[in-house]
Amino acid sequence: MTRIFLLLFLSFVGCTSIDKKKSIENEVISSKADDYFRVIEGQDEEIDTSLVKRGEILIAYSDCLDCHKIENRAKGPAFLDISKRYPYQEVYIDLLSQRIISGGNGSWGYPVMSAHPNLTVEDSKAMAAFVLSMENLRD
Ligand code: HEC
Repeated sequence: MTRIFLLLFLSFVGCTSIDKKKSIENEVISSKADDYFRVIEGQDEEIDTSLVKRGEILIAYSDCLDCHKIENRAKGPAFLDISKRYPYQEVYIDLLSQRIISGGNGSWGYPVMSAHPNLTVEDSKAMAAFVLSMENLRD
């Protein structure tokens, strides 16, 4: 008797986890279809132009552009979309610099971004500042 219950229980657990997986897959597909992203509200802080310039150069010499383009989606989200999503603020520069170093996934519904453990925090902050300044440079 307990065996039957156990079987029923296991098949129930099996079904729900498959459903869950499907709904996650659907979410990813729909978020890709309309390129949805949630904009984080906030005032931009004053742009540190020398930091931004340094970030631009560092990015040009790194592997970032293998996966990112400025205006269009590629393997990763467009830098312009990233800058539209986050305000240019010290806190977001810090956050994104950590993500650049450790890699990430789940924020944009794309596959995983590779980690860059050899970057210093200083350099990855400059890169994040360049990415976040993009929207302002283009207005
Ligand atoms: C192998 C491909 C790849 C490379 C190389 C790459 N990225 Fe990414 N990047 C991605 C993907 C994919 C995402 C979206 C991850 C997600 O959905 O959270 C992303 C996301 C980001 C984000 C946004 C993170 C967030 O949480 O919103 C920033 C900023 C970023 N990348 C900067 C960089 C910089 C700077 C470099 C170079 C040092 C770089 N990337 C190299 C693929 C890549």
